[in-house]
This record gives sequence, C-alpha cells and structure tokens, in this order.
Amino acid sequence: MYNRRDFLVGATAAAAVLGLAACGGSGAGSGGPDTDAAPSDQTVGVAMPTQTYERWVADGNNIEKGLEEKGFTVDMQYADDDIPTQQQQIDQMVNKGVSALLIASIDGASLSSQLDAAAAAGIPVIAYDRLLTDSENVDFYVTFDNYKVGVNQANALLFGLGLLDEKFEKAADAPKGPLNVELFAGSLDDNNAHLFWKGAIDTLQPYFDDKTLTVLSGQMDIEQAATQRWEQETAQKRMENLLTTHYNGGEELAGVLAPADPLSRGIINALQNAGLGPTLEEGLPVVTGQDAEIASIKLIADGVQSSTIFKDTRQLAEQAIVAAESILKGEDPEANDTETYDNGVKVVPSYLLEVQMVLESNYKEILVDSGYYTEEQVSSGQL
Ligand code: BGC
Repeated sequence: MYNRRDFLVGATAAAAVLGLAACGGSGAGSGGPDTDAAPSDQTVGVAMPTQTYERWVADGNNIEKGLEEKGFTVDMQYADDDIPTQQQQIDQMVNKGVSALLIASIDGASLSSQLDAAAAAGIPVIAYDRLLTDSENVDFYVTFDNYKVGVNQANALLFGLGLLDEKFEKAADAPKGPLNVELFAGSLDDNNAHLFWKGAIDTLQPYFDDKTLTVLSGQMDIEQAATQRWEQETAQKRMENLLTTHYNGGEELAGVLAPADPLSRGIINALQNAGLGPTLEEGLPVVTGQDAEIASIKLIADGVQSSTIFKDTRQLAEQAIVAAESILKGEDPEANDTETYDNGVKVVPSYLLEVQMVLESNYKEILVDSGYYTEEQVSSGQL
C-alpha cells in the first residue's frame, strides 16, 4: 500500500516525464485549486447520496445556492444510494478537472480509488456530513457533533419515558421500571451511525445496568439493530418482527430509540398497525428521531412522534463553503476538532456544528420562529 506522499511523488514524476502539469492545469484529469482564479472559473463538484431523503435534498439546495452566490459553478450529482453510481459520478468530476470536491458518501469506505485519483490530480476533498474512511486523501470534514446527536436522542427517550424532567435531571416521580425499549441503529457503512449509537448507548447504559430499562428482544448490538441504507421499510419490518416475536403476550413496549426520522415513521407505522396509540397520550410508545423532517415535525406537533434532532443544514452548507473557499485559496480551513475523526488512516481535521433536541414543547421556537419551516408546512406535513 502506498501513502499519499508516495503517490503524489510518483504522480508528479510521471507527469514530468509526460510534460504535463500535475495539478492546477486545465488538461483532462487535472484540476484542483488555482489560487489566482476567480470563482467563476472554478467548478466545485458536489456528490450527494440520495434524493429520497428530505435532508439531502435540503443540503444539496443549500450548497448549490451558497456556492452560486459566491460565483462558483457547481456540478451537483445525486447517486440514488447506489455505490457504483457515486463512484462513477466522482470519477467524472475528477476527469473534468473540478477545483474541489464536496462528498457526502453512501458508504464512507467505498471511494478510496476516486480519492486517490482526486489527490493525483491535485483536487482537494472535503467530506460532507459523513466521514470518508480508509483513505489518506481527505483534506477536511464538516459535520455536526454526531456523538452528541446520540446523547440527545437517548436523553429525549429518557425524557419521553418520564425518567428525566424538563431540566434533563432525574425526574422526581420517575417510574421504577423495568420499562421495555427497543433499539434501532443506522447503516453500518456510515461512520455517523456508529457515533449516534455510541452517544445513545453510553447515555442509556446506567439505566440498563440498574434494570430501569430492558431490551426485551435482547438485540443490543449495533449489528442487530442496524438498518442497511437507512431504509424506512427495513425499520418498519424489523419493528413488526420485534412486536410479533417479543410483544405478543401482553408485554408493554414503552419506547424505541430510532436514529433518523424516516426510520421513526416506519417504526410508528408498525406500532400503529399493531393497534398501539395512535398518539402518545393514547399509549403509543415514545419514538425518537433525527433531521427534523417536515413529516416528523407534523407528527411531533400532533403528539405522535416524541422527538427529533434538528441539524441546521443551512449552517452545514455554509460551513462547507467557507472550508472550500479557504482550501481554494490555498489556506487551511478553520477546524474546531482535530482529534475525534480518525478515518482509519489519519485524523481528519473537522468542523463540528451543534445540534438541538426538538420536542412538542419547543418545535415552534426552534423551527418556525427561526424561519426554517412555516406554520402551514408544519400543519400540512409537507414542504
Ligand atoms: C446523517 C443523518 C441522516 C442519515 C440518513 C447520516 O449520515 O448524518 O442526518 O439521517 O445519514 O440519511
């Protein structure tokens, strides 16, 4: 295996032999920052995972708008959650000689050869929201505090179960338990899924230890709880199976740790189809979420979904653009974390944004008053 420096030395030597510029040129396959170029002469390649998920559409729109406002040309590609499609799209961007790449991967470990090619062409790479793993050729990472997402999800679950009060301290009238909960995780090839899980389990562990909480199915490993490609139907099916296998004799399910809103909605469908609820007041188990998708905010307003985590994609897009601009000027982007994100080959300097827990009591303040959604969107559950 070679490292980036060996590769670059090799590539530079080969380019010299061929009489080509290794980077900054305009020939096919070469790209990267030209620090003197005007934004209008620079194209930023943006590779996004899927349009099925509302959040990635919002991310894509925000990035495109922000880059265009600064005068850049944008090459935006969605890959329909298909790894070979994303590989091809990035290959094409590299061949076209884009100035920089922003990548929200499907499988963080699947793009090593694309990242090698980008490095050889001098194209800097910023990992967007999801860490790119197993590669030296990742220059920067912009994301949210993913561990804290998990901590917040667990705290929202504990609050919904009445174990924590509004100050997130042990509730005076906390039920003794044991309360039954089930756990869901995201896609194992997404590094974020592991951090969400770790943040949540670290927070829930004391409650498992003292038996306030029990996982009746016994499925407490991330491998058992995982949801490949974050698919709603997969989560719904697993919830149906859990109910028919472990809750068919009058056992009461109190809550479900769900890592993202589409999965939350799949889980809620399964619970309601089994006759639970339909609202929290009417006995629907407490279900968490993530992304503050409009359909889930409506469910929160209607007292159905218990919580979600708001990650302001406007801020993430803005931060990604700030980082891209620095890199394109030949500067190091500002990082606020240089320890957490070890991608297996190196620690990638990162900029982490804060997240917010959303409940029925604060969704108006966080999402409507801030202009993220209108009242009408919340009441229709549509954008
Ligand atoms: C993102 C989450 C999202 C999930 C599924 C994760 O990488 O951080 O915001 O819910 O992917 O798309």
